[in-house]
Amino acid sequence: MMDTAQKEVKKESTVIFIFGGSGDLAHRKLLPALYNLFLDNYLPENFFIVGIGRTDYTDITYRTFIKEGIQEFSRRKNNLEEHWRNFSKHVDYLKGDLSKQTAYQQMAKLVKDKAEEWKQEANAVFYMSVAPQMVPMIAEKLHQAGLTTNPARSRMVFEKPFGHDLKSAKELNIQLGQMFEERQIYRIDHFLGKETVQNILALRFANALFEPVWNSNYIDHVQITAAEAIGIEGRGSYYEGAGALRDMVQNHILQMVCMIAMEAPVSFAADEIRNKKLDVLKAIRCWRKDAVHRNAVRGQYSDGWIDGEKLIAYRQEKGVAVDSPVETFAAVKFYVDNWRWKNVPFYVRTGKAMTTKTTLIVVQFKPAPHFSFPVEAGETWRPNRLVISIQPQMDIRLRFQAKQPGPKMVLQPVDMVFNYTDAYGDSAPEAYETLLQDVIEGNPTLFMRADQVERAWEVIQPILDSWQTRPPVDFPNYTPGSWGPEDAEALIAKDGRHWTTLPKDK
Ligand code: BG6
Repeated sequence: MMDTAQKEVKKESTVIFIFGGSGDLAHRKLLPALYNLFLDNYLPENFFIVGIGRTDYTDITYRTFIKEGIQEFSRRKNNLEEHWRNFSKHVDYLKGDLSKQTAYQQMAKLVKDKAEEWKQEANAVFYMSVAPQMVPMIAEKLHQAGLTTNPARSRMVFEKPFGHDLKSAKELNIQLGQMFEERQIYRIDHFLGKETVQNILALRFANALFEPVWNSNYIDHVQITAAEAIGIEGRGSYYEGAGALRDMVQNHILQMVCMIAMEAPVSFAADEIRNKKLDVLKAIRCWRKDAVHRNAVRGQYSDGWIDGEKLIAYRQEKGVAVDSPVETFAAVKFYVDNWRWKNVPFYVRTGKAMTTKTTLIVVQFKPAPHFSFPVEAGETWRPNRLVISIQPQMDIRLRFQAKQPGPKMVLQPVDMVFNYTDAYGDSAPEAYETLLQDVIEGNPTLFMRADQVERAWEVIQPILDSWQTRPPVDFPNYTPGSWGPEDAEALIAKDGRHWTTLPKDK
């Protein structure tokens, strides 16, 4: 994240340990992100990356594995051989049994050796890219080995899911709080690293134009869609314990709600931004259990086709129960009960196996208060709307009315568009680049604080509870390539509104 006016941050020597270094996230995202930071000269002069895993790699075979990941997933691949030669000198592998203290002693020695080699103290970053059940054990061993004693020099990054529900998240926070200071704990939500998500702050708070109308006087409702056209892609055992609500709504989607709904921060200080976002979470109405069915919809995909490709039903996936009640789609109507957002619904939905991949935020304004045009002028009349396309398309569209050229006064909605590629080319950094850089520099603005995570769980807990006590009777209830179950249409239609599915939809 651009820190206060992109001030030059002194980059301290750093050793980055990646637990789960031989895993998918490291291969596809973390190492390609570090490689790109290296290319941009954003890494400290002295840095060293150690992948830690159970797979039998040597330093050399591990580097080959990493190189393949970069070749396939890095956003930049030009002059790879030359850059790789320089980058790969900074990467090693440690095969270790993480339940034994020996591995941690090796890590402590490595940090010490590097500090001697660099002739200055080194920071250590520990990235937990492992199954959630391993996290408490690793954290404890790190603590016991004295690797995290100095809070100014050691940081831990926790991937989601952070807890499984409110109770487990609280327990995990308490456990970590007994060993570490909050400022050492970086709970990652990769959506916050996306350029388009960060840009919401710029759009709202660097322009005087939007703020006066950014409230219930002018805004009719807000919609957030995070749709994916893929199934669960072999992650059955993880997904069975999660479902769409835990996987996407508790974190990514609620964070986007916060960005749209938060008050203007006084500064860009990490806790200032985080406090303002927490205020939003605190104001979100938690549905009573008996109101959940009116305000939340769940779905699960059957088998079918997306873009001519056959997709098996969720219940046929490996690791998934044949009668699984787990939702692969969720839609919820939220209210943010504060002065600014009184009675403005926030409709959110997310799903796997939908028509297309798209993440979209729609801010729908109220109609103009008085329609002074002849009736026929307004047949195509539409209220103003701001559509923020987060991905894969990256743009912002403001819809307004224009007079269609011709002798008569006919109104036509048109879009004013800001498109990232047109404005900046294709060079936007990946979310993990931004976030890793922030961890290395010690900037926690885009990371979840303990209280934020807990409050987000509090918001969705009644829905989880209600769904658990009432198993779904109609699963599977949507086909791949659709926009989810019919009930999701009804959720918004009963309020006289409809989902905007694509940026240019009418
Ligand atoms: C992850 C979820 O957090 O986000 C996945 O666990 C989901 O299920 C992914 O596919 C979506 O992220 P992105 O950046 O590809 O939209």
